[in-house]
Amino acid sequence: MKVAVIGTGYVGLVTAAILADFGNQVVGVDIDEEKIKTLQKGQTPFYEPGLSDLLLRNQGARRLIFTIDYSQAIPPAEVIFICVGTPSNERGEADLNYVFSAAKSLAPFLTEKAVVVIKSTVPPGTHLEVKKIIDKLTEVKYYLASVPEFLREGSALEDTLRPDRVIIGTDNKYAQKVLLDLHRPINGKRILTDVVSAQLIKYAANSFLASKISYANEIARLCDVYGADVMQVMEGVGEDKRIGKAFLHPGIGYGGSCFPKDVKAILAFAKKKEVELAVIAGAHRTNTTQVNYFIEKIKKHLGNLQNKKIGVLGLAFKGNTDDIRQSRALVLIKKLLEEKAEVYAYDPLAATSVKKFFPELRINYASNWQQVAKQAEALIIATEWNEFKELDLEELKRISQVKYIFDGRNILNPAKVKLAGFHYVGLGR
Ligand code: UGA
Repeated sequence: MKVAVIGTGYVGLVTAAILADFGNQVVGVDIDEEKIKTLQKGQTPFYEPGLSDLLLRNQGARRLIFTIDYSQAIPPAEVIFICVGTPSNERGEADLNYVFSAAKSLAPFLTEKAVVVIKSTVPPGTHLEVKKIIDKLTEVKYYLASVPEFLREGSALEDTLRPDRVIIGTDNKYAQKVLLDLHRPINGKRILTDVVSAQLIKYAANSFLASKISYANEIARLCDVYGADVMQVMEGVGEDKRIGKAFLHPGIGYGGSCFPKDVKAILAFAKKKEVELAVIAGAHRTNTTQVNYFIEKIKKHLGNLQNKKIGVLGLAFKGNTDDIRQSRALVLIKKLLEEKAEVYAYDPLAATSVKKFFPELRINYASNWQQVAKQAEALIIATEWNEFKELDLEELKRISQVKYIFDGRNILNPAKVKLAGFHYVGLGR
């Protein structure tokens, strides 16, 4: 099949690479000329395990090309995916300008029976706005659909190839058949819905997962005061198949480009129709206070943080990515700096982005955890990178003056940490 993918962020690039790998002819389009040049040179603009090889293989086989030119990408395409960003605006709503501008740019080049698929996360009803824009600019018969994306950064390829489900939201039988054909090599249950339901599934799923995390974080606070171990509690809770074990891991809260934005957006579009979403609003509130809660715990042990040398392990919003959007690690560092602590930090991949986008943060960057430890009197784990999970505690003892380990991701074994001679402070354990 001939496919165009508009937007070369995580969702767009992964979609383009995988569809090309199935043998489809794919053109990736973006308005960012620099990004397109980077891709044309065979480089990947961000880190995602396995993506670089997949892109190169398919570019080499000429099944995948990149351009800024809509007049090249759209006319041959039978299916066009809109995969542009929908960031939060100042009111917390999804900013749909990129979606609308993509619709405007593609419309004049649409050919008969093209299927336009909105993959960007958009509020219910957005397709009607998109339709109005396209209808003004073309006479051809085309179809609109919504196929939301459920991939996670860091495991994007695996998630796209083997998702739990593929949601195909369209009111048109022809478009439904085309999209079922295109997704045939992908695993997962097919759920056929109308467009609005597909759009809502995405928000409902993300806000449910975000609520699970906040729920675990609230129970962790309760465990702190009653002396229970939240990891045991969550294991006991999660084994109930009706609840499930995933996304019950406590920490300093959820970040990234999706949960914080989508939770705010669902609250905003519910409010517009005067629907109260108390559970989701609560999840959001808990997330915004979780870093403070952790800082207060740290202060209970260290006292005033002024001039204290604090080492922070992790800057990315989670492990296995260089993405720092809405990273809780950065929220934590900002607060430490406000308290006038001296911050030493290390992340396996994300330091370059922090230096670039937050030059005002007075962080002393290190190129490994050992360098951080040598400077610090206390260590905070802020991101769940694998390399921090089995931190060499003997080496830490040998090379540093560190006395406290504050585990903001509950990834260390407290008994081992204590045995090695450190004070361990996690969340709810
Ligand atoms: C999330 C969803 O998991 C994907 O299904 C969805 O497609 C994506 O958003 C999106 O809307 O595009 P992602 O943001 O890549 O994916 O990351 P997650 O793995 O979901 O983690 C989000 C945040 O929650 C991270 O900060 C992570 O540290 C935190 N988290 C996750 C916890 O604190 N505890 C957990 O148990 C799980």
